[in-house]
Amino acid sequence: MKEHKLLTKRFGEIDPFSIEDFVNVGGYETLKKAMKMTSEEIIYEVEASRITGRGGANFPTYMKMRAMSKETGDMYLVCNADEGEPGNFKDKHLMEKDPHQLIEGMLISAYAVGANRGYIYIRGEYQSAVYLLEHAINEARKHGYLGQDICGKDFHFDLEVRQGAGAYVCGEEFALLESIEGKPGRTRVKPPFPTEAGLFMKPTLINNVETFSTLPHIIEMSGEEYGKLGSSFASGTKLISLSGNVKHKGLYEVEYGTTIRQVIEELGGGVSNGQKINMVQLGGACGPIIPEHLLDMDIDNERFEIFNSKMGAGAIIVIDDRFDLFEILLRTMTFFAHESCGKCAPCREGHIQIVKLLQKFYDTKVTYKDYESLVSLANVIHETALCGLGQTSTTSILATVEFFQYYYQQRIRQSERREWAL
Ligand SMILES: Cc1cc2nc3c(=O)[nH]c(=O)nc-3n(C[C@H](O)[C@H](O)[C@H](O)COP(=O)(O)O)c2cc1C
Repeated sequence: MKEHKLLTKRFGEIDPFSIEDFVNVGGYETLKKAMKMTSEEIIYEVEASRITGRGGANFPTYMKMRAMSKETGDMYLVCNADEGEPGNFKDKHLMEKDPHQLIEGMLISAYAVGANRGYIYIRGEYQSAVYLLEHAINEARKHGYLGQDICGKDFHFDLEVRQGAGAYVCGEEFALLESIEGKPGRTRVKPPFPTEAGLFMKPTLINNVETFSTLPHIIEMSGEEYGKLGSSFASGTKLISLSGNVKHKGLYEVEYGTTIRQVIEELGGGVSNGQKINMVQLGGACGPIIPEHLLDMDIDNERFEIFNSKMGAGAIIVIDDRFDLFEILLRTMTFFAHESCGKCAPCREGHIQIVKLLQKFYDTKVTYKDYESLVSLANVIHETALCGLGQTSTTSILATVEFFQYYYQQRIRQSERREWAL
């Protein structure tokens, strides 16, 4: 199988520092095309494309645009470029290799919904992306694509880069908005949703880098044509960040409907050093860990519902048979305990207890009662946490309880034997 390059087609072909390079290959032409359309026509194309958000939650993009387009007065556009989910690096590539594609997508969106001001919130660790985007924004301003009277029309929009300070939760949309406002990154209770009361309590359209970067392609090829790509469950292409014990780690763009095995074996060249795949984590630290026999599942969102999960932002982390499941779970949950913002008790307290229980599994000092506590606590955090961090953090535990039950039972038996031997 081959990649289907749409968002990545200019990677390596153009100099990301040169707006001329981008314009020479047709860049900003789609913006001009969009500016001849009405707001409703643009949103209709986005609806026809069936695109859903690429930041992990898969919410239909057109719905947020339509809600925003009904608002009046000050409103904002925010690009979520926090990309703090371990195992994901697609947004970094998009910003560093084709920054004007993202700016063009944001412009089309701003024009459609009527926003005049936008922010790109980039994680502080991505200094090269910050530098490149600031350069690209300045160039776009000089060439009349940002600022007042864009392309000679009565459309005003400007952009600013804001940097995060390394908190994972700041990728969550409300925590991100709080952070832009200069407050600690903590989620808000919803509703109201950002399209009603977002940044500075004004209507705000927040989308991921990949979502915005796809918009020019939808307008260029039409929503209907874009919607034909992918599968009946999910349309278009998806950027996959492939990492772990695989020969050719890297970024791949594939159509939805491609199987996880195809990505790992045909694009990634299979596992390294002749080892065997033991498990694969999907989406990132907040995603499910699945066994080898499920790898023929398509990359789409509907089928991941069986894990109470989504494909997330598109990470595939391959883990071969040398690794201990409990070491991986312990590391993952230590990460979430550290990254909890502390606002809600299930997440703040629950992760600390989960880490203690997993430490017992790792040390082979665990009882069946501990196992029951682990499963119950994982469910409680999932069901009661205030934001997506806690709602998804225990997905790996719940999935492994289902697919790797043998490992749990084995570790309990080993612990009992160890106890008797003492
Ligand atoms: C803890 C947490 C971290 C998140 N991190 C990111 C992120 O780094 N980038 C992102 O685009 N979305 C992230 N999201 C999802 C956002 O809240 C939101 O759904 C997304 O920005 C919407 O854009 P989209 O519709 O284009 O996907 C995160 C969500 C949670 C709960």
